[in-house]
Amino acid sequence: MMQSSFFFGLRGSGLARWWLTATLAAGCAAKPPVQDAPLPAGAADAAAGTADAAAGGRTAGFAPRNGAGEAKDQAGPDQCKDSKPGPPPPPPHNPLEYVRNFHQTWQRDPSTTVTLTWTTNVTDLAAYTPRALYAPASEVCSDGRRLFAGQALQATGSGLQYDTITWDGQQKAVTWTVELTGLTPDTDYAFAVGTWQSHDPATGHFAKATLSQPGRFRTAPAKGSRAPMRFVMAGDSRGGTANIYTHSKRFAAIPALAWFFTGDMSSTGVQPQWDDWFESMGPILWTKPLMPVQGNHEMLAEIHYGQFALPVAPGLSADYLEHAWALDIGNVHMIGLDSNTDEGIADQVPWLTKHLEAAAKNPDTDWTFVMMHHPAYSASTVHGSSTAVQKHWVPLFEKYGVDVAFAGHDHCYERSVPITAGKPAAAATGVTYVVAGGFFAPPYKNGSDWWTAVSHHGNKYNYVEISVNGKALTLTAWSGDGAEKLDQVQITR
Ligand SMILES: [Fe+2]
Ligand SMILES: [Fe+2]
Repeated sequence: MMQSSFFFGLRGSGLARWWLTATLAAGCAAKPPVQDAPLPAGAADAAAGTADAAAGGRTAGFAPRNGAGEAKDQAGPDQCKDSKPGPPPPPPHNPLEYVRNFHQTWQRDPSTTVTLTWTTNVTDLAAYTPRALYAPASEVCSDGRRLFAGQALQATGSGLQYDTITWDGQQKAVTWTVELTGLTPDTDYAFAVGTWQSHDPATGHFAKATLSQPGRFRTAPAKGSRAPMRFVMAGDSRGGTANIYTHSKRFAAIPALAWFFTGDMSSTGVQPQWDDWFESMGPILWTKPLMPVQGNHEMLAEIHYGQFALPVAPGLSADYLEHAWALDIGNVHMIGLDSNTDEGIADQVPWLTKHLEAAAKNPDTDWTFVMMHHPAYSASTVHGSSTAVQKHWVPLFEKYGVDVAFAGHDHCYERSVPITAGKPAAAATGVTYVVAGGFFAPPYKNGSDWWTAVSHHGNKYNYVEISVNGKALTLTAWSGDGAEKLDQVQITR
């Protein structure tokens, strides 16, 4: 397995660890969201007037153009297409506040929460208040009209400052996060993010609003639900964003609840590469959460974890907060792990042991998946199997009944037979290992070994759809352009 001494040096430094711990404590992990009152009808029209307000130098809001509280604003979504086009979201009041690099993650219960994250050019934590408007999608027109027009809820979040590296050198950057809580399970929501300086609930007026276009997400089924769910697992993009741009709308149309990404989004992890990746992934990221783990090419841990708001796992060493995480999603238990150093792999063992032991007893869980960057089993001749993952984690996966371990790093596709104790397992037992490292990074040659069930060269690229339907699991690997089914397997428990 390839290790990055640069990465290791940073992650191992006391300064870096202090920074991460301190900023996590001060930032997204520590500050609870503020839930405000619903917006009154007509707020959108007021928001749409903010460009005029800015142009005219006024800070107060404007009277709604369509008439606040008119019957059509209170109507159901079936009447959206009959009413005249509603106001667009307000144009940016201040170009420095333009919403960039937007993405969604889960920090807590995916059935009732979601975290919305973005950046702006504002790097002063006191100069910007991240805010979100949100509402059940059933109450919002497809163009977002009612979101801006009234019946939306508001939430306020916080900023997290981190050191980043641009082509001009080291700079301060800030990610803004708003966590929405108290959501209804298994429900589509619409939202917009940004900020406004003040809002008068009596009149519905915004002042100095800079709000994004509407986005979407769906909350997960309630814990223990056996409702069908679909996810996408992908990994390894570095340098491949031209292909992501080409296919991103098709990817966004896959009816997945969320995406998981096994690392190597970037080539070296500097900010311009991240900006390009987030931009190319936009259609996906504006419509569903993406949960990542760090790859070896995210050489600057601060930038990776500075940008993603991830779960804080109870009992995990402070050195690894957000590096490893776990979520219950319906009847699925998903664990993300940091496989980037042998030291780190060993250090996560005590937490992983306790966590898997508890998770294995949860009657609401039918499927336990793990994801990491470095594969336990890979027959590719480029990197191959990680002996450290095999030594430290595989025995735990086997002991506590992990069903599938997903990884990337080798830019090809491979699925193993179920494995127990270093041998093919009896049918319907054992851990299945999937290497799906082909989200448009430079293709690698695949290979075949005793564990290999299916293997494809990376030149077709790849991603995997995970379909869970109660106690039936279907994994389907597709070529990057979606034209060829590379593999499909069904597992039942
Ligand atoms: Fe890698
Ligand atoms: Fe890679």
